[in-house]
Amino acid sequence: IAQTAMKKAVELAPGALLPGGRPDPLLRRRHGHIGTPVSRVDGPLKVRGAAPFAAEIALDGMVYAALAYSTIAKGRIVTLDTGAAEAAPGVVLVMTHRNAPRLNPPPRFLSGDKAAAGDDSPVMQDDRVRWNGEPIALVLAETQEQADHARSLIRVTYAEEPAATSLPTADGCEVGAFMGEPLRAVVGDADAALAAAPHKVEAVYRTPGHNHNALEPHGATLVWRGDDLFVHDATQAVAHTAWTMARIFGLEESQVHVSSPFVGGGFGAKGLWQHQILAAAAARLAGRPVRIALSREGVYRIVGGRSPTEQRVALGADADGRLTAIIHRGVTPKTRHSPMPEPFILPTQSAYSAQTFALEVQTCYLDMVANTFMRAPGEAVGTVALECAMDELAEQLGMDPVELRVLNEPEKDPLSGRPFSARNIVAAYRAGAQRFGWERRNPVPRSRREGDWLVGMGCATATYPYHRMPGGAARITLDAAGHARIDVAAHEMGMGTATTHTQVAADRLGLPLDAVTVRYGDSSLPGVILAGGSQQTASVGLAVMMAQKELVDELLTLAGNDSPLAGLGADEVECADAGLRKLDEPGRFESYASILARSGRNEVAVEGSAPMPLETMHWSMHSYGAMFCEVRVNAITGETRVSRFFGSFDCGRILNPKTAASQFRGGIIMGLGLALMEETQFDQRNGRIMNRNLSDYHLPVHLDVPEIEVIWTDIPDPHAPMGARGIGEIGITGTGAAVANAIHNATGRRVREFPITLDKLL
Ligand code: MOS
Repeated sequence: IAQTAMKKAVELAPGALLPGGRPDPLLRRRHGHIGTPVSRVDGPLKVRGAAPFAAEIALDGMVYAALAYSTIAKGRIVTLDTGAAEAAPGVVLVMTHRNAPRLNPPPRFLSGDKAAAGDDSPVMQDDRVRWNGEPIALVLAETQEQADHARSLIRVTYAEEPAATSLPTADGCEVGAFMGEPLRAVVGDADAALAAAPHKVEAVYRTPGHNHNALEPHGATLVWRGDDLFVHDATQAVAHTAWTMARIFGLEESQVHVSSPFVGGGFGAKGLWQHQILAAAAARLAGRPVRIALSREGVYRIVGGRSPTEQRVALGADADGRLTAIIHRGVTPKTRHSPMPEPFILPTQSAYSAQTFALEVQTCYLDMVANTFMRAPGEAVGTVALECAMDELAEQLGMDPVELRVLNEPEKDPLSGRPFSARNIVAAYRAGAQRFGWERRNPVPRSRREGDWLVGMGCATATYPYHRMPGGAARITLDAAGHARIDVAAHEMGMGTATTHTQVAADRLGLPLDAVTVRYGDSSLPGVILAGGSQQTASVGLAVMMAQKELVDELLTLAGNDSPLAGLGADEVECADAGLRKLDEPGRFESYASILARSGRNEVAVEGSAPMPLETMHWSMHSYGAMFCEVRVNAITGETRVSRFFGSFDCGRILNPKTAASQFRGGIIMGLGLALMEETQFDQRNGRIMNRNLSDYHLPVHLDVPEIEVIWTDIPDPHAPMGARGIGEIGITGTGAAVANAIHNATGRRVREFPITLDKLL
């Protein structure tokens, strides 16, 4: 969508939009707040338990919802007995396809600028079942316990139909697509180049499905007031959710109000799923406010995760180790109702220089819960295959894996031919290798043993693209006391959005931190901003930059002829010391308070919109990282313990080193889970997810996580707003391969089926 919109914008206004945008003036200036480790502005609220989450909002007369889920993958509901449930204590409503209001189909995410639904199946509109776990009934009751009990009394029978629940039974196999682009790239004859290469590796890597497990399960509290719908939601997309709910219920966008001030983790999953839609429908039927809080099982049943992948990587190299062929092909399932398959070839498109490429994602339809976005969709598992294969090639060549990567570093984007906006991955590798102590690695596997523990080191490249979606907008309201409020429809999922943008706005406006407030998490605020694709910071930052320009214009107009600034244009002044100052003449200054007082204004409010994201049309833009891992594998039990992890990142300017370090570490911890533990156990006989709880689905806990050190180049990207590329997703990329490569160095074993559980090391 972003690509299409950009192409359109260029056609409409040739020459009007500068290639690559314009460099941020703040890049050339001394900074006050940017780059300092400011603690989270929402921290005290969180610590005191005073930050309200969506399913904690209490509304007068509220009832509680519970969902019943299908237990077959495909077919029809034949009988649905709700009598006992309706007669149970406290029950207010039992809603099924028989009495649910008629709804429009949910617009699928990416099918339009603001479409948000993770799945576009009709929501309780007919007797069809499309996946094992689809909601078939919703109970409303006076308490959660009554709703849960009544739900257990519902009796259903089905007419089952043959379902595709494993790849061999799947149909409709074809080349997949991501954001409208086919997941396929061919340069030269890679198969012939591979056959002719003096050095080559070829292997199949498998990653399992993964389920989303944010600390806060999905939830919403909502109420109808007349024909207006008010939703307190846990979401990464307030504006998108409002628009999409309006479509589903046949309302104007302005009739849906979505508020989401705090989100307990998103990772791509906190979008619009059936629970919000069903709760809104039931609230309308019952005439009562509704709270719906999914159980952990509920999240597994209706919220998509990451699909399994089977990836074949083949690399050919000449005698010196230069790549002559990169082949990355494989298969992953998708559904007929969700927006994307797992696009695992994405990282391979710009990782290394090579003479030939053959990349392709085959996709086949399964009857299962949606595939959805999950932290670095594509890159998280794509780098597992590519970066393990690079390690295998280095071993065959007798080269250091770092040097093999440096040797094959591309000068420009190998597929698109675009120059890189900034790429300092070699610097990241050099700094990381030195700090980690890479030179102590013995390249001979199984050569270091401490008691029962085999010790090894591995590395891998992390990479995630820079994105900025259209729709960034923000409002600045400056008052006579010199306080600025930034209004933006952004999201705080724990990553530090409010904090970072307080710093950015304070620097941009020449104000102290305590004179800036960022208001966010509400669909009534300006902007259509997704907290996804690691792009929220760039999107908000540029919108604030544009609003600041408007503010300067407005203030100069208000200042008038009696001001020391009289006659100056916007490009002759800067915001500093809570006022405007002539750039090369510090004596010509007037404070904001003085300008507003003299013009008789209590406040001035301006809005700015970010220009189309043209930068990615002109530059290949990515964040990078060099990941280093040390593992200890028990020679007797096969148990793997990650003893050290080091991430050396190159993501442009780092706006807040404290929140950024947490983002990097969080991504790496998720990557450790991907490497060693996480696995959705999908019953291929019936399409049911078996381990739908945190005791059977294993995630890293504190004792599984070693000391994680992170550093960064902090080299500003001249083509990214504020010089900053994204940091939210990159930490999970490269991590899985760094762990696997370290395990190989420790044990001599190449495990290509993830997660690397101890049974695979015995
Ligand atoms: Mo991220 S998977 O774009 O929330």
